[in-house]
Amino acid sequence: MFINQTQLRHLLRPDQYMSERQYRTELRHLFDSTWHPLATTRDIAKPGDILTFDLLETPILIRNFDGELRAFLNVCPHRHSRLIDKPKANSERLKCQYHGWEFDQEGRTGKIPDARAFRPWDRENACLRRFRLETCGELVFVNFSDNGMSLREWLGPLWETWSAGFGGDYRYATTWEQDFPCNWKVVLENSLESYHIPQVHPKTFKEYPEESNSWHVLDPQYSTFRTMAPDDWLNRRLSWAVRQLGVPVTNEYWHHVRHPHVTFASLDIHRMMMCVFPISPTACRYRSIVYTLRGRRRNPLAWALAHCLRPAVVAVGKKVFAEDGAIYEGVQRGLAASPNTGVW
Ligand code: FES
Ligand SMILES: [Fe+2]
Repeated sequence: MFINQTQLRHLLRPDQYMSERQYRTELRHLFDSTWHPLATTRDIAKPGDILTFDLLETPILIRNFDGELRAFLNVCPHRHSRLIDKPKANSERLKCQYHGWEFDQEGRTGKIPDARAFRPWDRENACLRRFRLETCGELVFVNFSDNGMSLREWLGPLWETWSAGFGGDYRYATTWEQDFPCNWKVVLENSLESYHIPQVHPKTFKEYPEESNSWHVLDPQYSTFRTMAPDDWLNRRLSWAVRQLGVPVTNEYWHHVRHPHVTFASLDIHRMMMCVFPISPTACRYRSIVYTLRGRRRNPLAWALAHCLRPAVVAVGKKVFAEDGAIYEGVQRGLAASPNTGVW
């Protein structure tokens, strides 16, 4: 296990995992101006496709306008209805479900039933609120703030790995999400340490790697962790499969956290993006998007291997997700009753 030479002290008190004030402060200072991975371009591939989300107490929609993806507040400027209430839809025009106002890809009004009734026209207040949307590989990110870093700047040195990992040699496998009755930091902090592995993942990961097999970069914006997969029977078989798919074998496991809430994990056979979204001081939503190795060869063996890898990676990923998920509520309930500051 990685041993920090400087012994960082435990920075947050237990009440900061449940207080309304802390939650509001975090939404404003950590989340309002950051990039949020919400979907993949495959989820919204056809013109007219729409996805809706409740993100940080804000209803938003993403729509494909003839190949151009746009994000808007999912609230109509007319009488404040949500434009669309379904999680997924497809429509020829972006139209409000209540009185049928239509909007173009800039968020400006198009056709309005009985438009004469609205003269003189209040152009300024009749537009949809638009949000920044950018993609990294096939991942779709949204940012509530009009200013600040582009997605590429925000990801910094992580950009190259992430953009190559979601698309290209790797193809989309699945997305899953679950709500947990705990503060978002409980989930995020769990993903930042491997100390819990023998206790929480005795069958999947078994042991944490030795210090001599752990490399870290701790940056104010992100952290990375790298280790070599054990040289055992299973990993030798996986390396053989990776070679058959025409991709170089590294045997490396990578784990990145782009603060505050996005985690990336990879082996040669998969790329996984996980993101935790606060819902309330004591609840959060955790979403995983998984891509598995497709490789570069197009022969029957490569096709069969890629098709076998996919369900196997998803099954193991879901098992690990469930093992971690089983601990969060107990940590949150402990925090609520703890007289201690925590030992770091
Ligand atoms: S509330 Fe949307 S058209 Fe009236
Ligand atoms: Fe874990």
